[in-house]
Amino acid sequence: MELRQIRTDELRTKMWSLATHVRDLQTAFAEGKPATADGRAEIARILGSMEETAMSLDARAYTRHHADASLGAFRSELRAAREGAERDPPEYYFAGRISGSCAYCHR
Ligand code: HEC
Repeated sequence: MELRQIRTDELRTKMWSLATHVRDLQTAFAEGKPATADGRAEIARILGSMEETAMSLDARAYTRHHADASLGAFRSELRAAREGAERDPPEYYFAGRISGSCAYCHR
């Protein structure tokens, strides 16, 4: 019971971190950050943080929701987005649609 509560709190903290980063990313694009090297580095850093958070999500916590396959897909899209952002010139196809990948688990 207590253990389950801790897991839920941790999950929520991570989810809010993802949500904050999605917003930071949208702001970065809206402010034209891809135009400068510093801005591009910032975008890659945000995506890297999201990827780290996604990697730290416990797949076992989702088996009840049959979302373990979705977690794998979410992680792959974040990796593709981060790798694209690190390329020179950068490729923002996946970064631009990253909020859509939340829909693997959220309606
Ligand atoms: C692998 C599945 C999965 C993915 C992918 C996922 N989430 Fe979640 N998320 C959950 C689960 C499970 C919960 C907790 C139960 C619920 O509210 O449905 C949750 C809850 C949340 C919450 C509410 C937290 C609270 O305080 O209750 C937010 C905000 C959130 N997610 C944002 C995001 C965003 C933004 C993304 C995409 C960047 C994302 N999630 C991707 C599974 C996922």
